[in-house]
Parts: sequence; structure tokens; C-alpha cells
Amino acid sequence: MMEMAQEYAKANVLSRRDGQDIIEEFSFELSKVQGKCLDIGSGPGDVTKDFLFPLLPHDVEVVGSDISQSMVNYARKNNSNERLSYIILDIEGRMPSEQIGQYDYVTSFYCLHFAYDLSHAFKNIFKLLRPNGKALVTFLEYHIVYEVYIRLSQNPRYEFYLQDAHRYVPYFQRKVYKNIETSLRKMLEDIGFEILHCSKREKCYQYNNQQILKNQMLSINPFISRMPDDMKDEFMGDLIKEIFKQDVWIPFENKNNEFLLKHYLLVAYIKKPQSAN
Ligand SMILES: C[S@@+](CC[C@H](N)C(=O)[O-])C[C@H]1O[C@@H](n2cnc3c(N)ncnc32)[C@H](O)[C@@H]1O
Repeated sequence: MMEMAQEYAKANVLSRRDGQDIIEEFSFELSKVQGKCLDIGSGPGDVTKDFLFPLLPHDVEVVGSDISQSMVNYARKNNSNERLSYIILDIEGRMPSEQIGQYDYVTSFYCLHFAYDLSHAFKNIFKLLRPNGKALVTFLEYHIVYEVYIRLSQNPRYEFYLQDAHRYVPYFQRKVYKNIETSLRKMLEDIGFEILHCSKREKCYQYNNQQILKNQMLSINPFISRMPDDMKDEFMGDLIKEIFKQDVWIPFENKNNEFLLKHYLLVAYIKKPQSAN
């Protein structure tokens, strides 16, 4: 998944902006972090290095982590320093014993919506933290592109390549809950976390033109690399067309190509209690 680290690093305008917003919002809390911090799903590492790292006190050690070897390679090469390193870690997998209870702080930006079993991923975060450790996470609750994946998987031209399209739909977009925020709270409390903050946010991103959206959608697309070359352009064209058929975008009056696209984020700030082990 997401082997195109360089393309992603260039096109990740949305996650970069949203990551920066949340990091700034929690800057006071981040300035109080002590010890060792793990960033889960750090991807190319630019959000970790450009936004998170500068806000943390100068003696905090930061470890970025990702399931993808190519992301970790890219991050090591482009976004590491003497206090910022990167490891391979699958947050849905079995936690290596040497990582358990090692972290005072966990962050994760735009990654946990990839977790098929979100509760399991949070249980792993609980394991990675020391008692009293905190986690700040933000991930997509809903983005139109995942609905479009499902639609395109029903198109006979693409169905062969999109057989696992449902696998990529964010956890809370896949399930019908009356109140998603309450469901997330309950999931976290059942694991043993104390909730310091939990909210759902409606967000918008302003695109100056369709190409920016297309580049972004291409850089996160899990299917395109499976397709024959002569299908790729057509598929991306159809994907963008499908997005514009839905009511999540708003054109700018008097501005020819600019438009806004809506999505929803979940934000949680949680603590592993002192008494937990
Ligand atoms: C959209 S990128 C976000 C990167 C960065 N945090 C940012 O905000 O720009 C999501 C990252 O999560 C990683 N990822 C997906 N599933 C994962 C898992 N199970 N464990 C760890 N990382 C995962 C992907 O490889 C990708 O690099």
C-alpha cells in the first residue's frame, strides 16, 4: 500500500494541512511532552518533522513509524535527524515486545482510518504507552473518495482491479452508527483509556484546480498500480467525475476552477491511566 512515497510527499496537501491544524490546536499540550514519542503512520515524515517535532521540547526523542518500507526509507532519507528516527511498525499487527510500554506519548495523523479493526489498533496504542502516557490521534471519519471506490468497483470495466475496494473504506464510514463520536468514546473507554477530548469535525479543503485534487487522489490510490497503463488515465478521469457527481463539493463563485471539498475528521486525545499496566 502507498508505495509511492515521493508522489505522496508532493501531493499530500490535505493531510498536511489537517495535521498542521491539529498539531497547532494541541501545541500547549505538545510543549509539555516528556520522554519518548511515537508517531504512527508517519508516511514520508514531513508532517512529523515540519509540524510535530518543532513543538516538542528539545529533549524529547521522536520515533516515526509506518507499515510501508518505502515510506520509512523515504522518511529516513529526507526527514530524520539525531532525535527523529523511523521504524517499520504495523499498528494492526502484533506489537514487538521491545516496543511495549516504551512510549510516553503517541501521535497519529491521517492513518488510523486504514485500520480495518480500529479497536485492535487502539488496543495496540494502549500497549505501546507507559501508564500515564497520552495519545493524540486524528483520522478520517468520511471522505467521498472511498464511496467513489465502491461505486467504481461496481463498474464492469474496473471491477477486477477493485475487488477489495471495501477494505479501504474508513472504519466509521463502513459502519452505520447513530452517533459516531459516542461510538468512538465507548470504544476507547472499553479499552481502558481516559478521554481528555473526543470530537468529530467537518472540514473543507480549497482546491485551486482539479489537477491538485487529481494528483492527491492518484498518490493515495491503492488500485492504479494494478491496472494496465492504458486504463490508468481513464480510471482517474472517472474517479474525479464521480466525485463531482456527489454533493460534497462547492464551486467558488467568480473563480473559474476553484472549489471546496468537504470531509469529516475524528480527533481523540486520550490517556492510559496510571493504574493500567
Ligand atoms: C495518509 S498517510 C499519512 C502520513 C502522515 N502521517 C501525514 O499526516 O501526512 C497514511 C500512512 O499510514 C500508513 N499506514 C497504513 N496502514 C498502516 C498500519 N496498519 N500501520 C502503520 N502504518 C500504516 C501508510 O503506509 C501511510 O504512510
